[in-house]
Amino acid sequence: MVVETRSTAPLVCIAPAKINLYLRVVARRPDGFHELETVMAGLRDVYDTLTIEAIPSGELELRIEQACPPRLDGQTLPASGDNLVLKAARRLREVSADGTLPCGVRITLIKRVPAAAGLGGGSSDAATTLLALNHFWKLGQSQETLLAMAAQLGSDVPFFLANSPWVLCTGRGEILTPAASQQQLWLVVARPRTGLSTPAVFRACTPEPEAASAEVFLKAAENPQTSLMARALHNSLQQPAESLNPEIAALRRALDHEHVHVHQMTGSGSAYFAICSTRRHACQVAARLRAQGLAWVQVSTTRI
Ligand code: C5P
Repeated sequence: MVVETRSTAPLVCIAPAKINLYLRVVARRPDGFHELETVMAGLRDVYDTLTIEAIPSGELELRIEQACPPRLDGQTLPASGDNLVLKAARRLREVSADGTLPCGVRITLIKRVPAAAGLGGGSSDAATTLLALNHFWKLGQSQETLLAMAAQLGSDVPFFLANSPWVLCTGRGEILTPAASQQQLWLVVARPRTGLSTPAVFRACTPEPEAASAEVFLKAAENPQTSLMARALHNSLQQPAESLNPEIAALRRALDHEHVHVHQMTGSGSAYFAICSTRRHACQVAARLRAQGLAWVQVSTTRI
């Protein structure tokens, strides 16, 4: 989301996190990926910030400031060429004109979204970089071109370019269908101290070709009663993630004692969310989780 639009002034952008309300691994694919059906929802109160400013050197520069608590393992990100923000910027430069930069830029990334969490932090940063630099450099690349670049950067990246708060994502996650049902939910989102590697969780999963489809979830979500939708939540990756990281099962057991609508892991973990009735309810649950020593706990609504 672009906040400041004067192209000579620094451009400040919000890169929101996501949760997977529903995620079914349908099948393994010959290319090493998995066929998915997932419904993703953006979060309003969990986000990174990117600031883009012109620099005279003509180079692409990335600075990362960690705003996440140091108690989270795997949180330190390199500002090297492997970083998805730099990959996105280079990809945009390659497809634009003759590959020369309209001007050099320094991107300052303030990381608030925990890494290795299934919250899509890196993917959202990459998508936001595509949008922001397309605007900053006045490149005029179409949404279609940006979506194609996003899909090359990662399976979750296209979701963050969709102008819809809830999206059904299929294929390996890059085929987007905006969802009609978009309830605003009060959530507690938490990540244990240790994260999880996405490839490791996918390797440990068992595809569920016969399980209830995303259509069943989306139908349930059309009803304004959150409790009906809550019964249809699902994540095929939760069981394998729990087998790899015991902190997730501990979080599940802690939330079993709370009167929340439902709780579930997001994406390939290790972050977890609970759907609460009100903001007050979410704040109370969050306070109890923090008191149990959870490494990172945040209250958020979904975007509308
Ligand atoms: O697409 P992305 O680079 O984010 O995927 C990271 C890893 O997650 C892949 O290398 C693959 O191991 C796994 N993955 C998968 N099936 C998907 C998406 C991701 O197996 N649909």
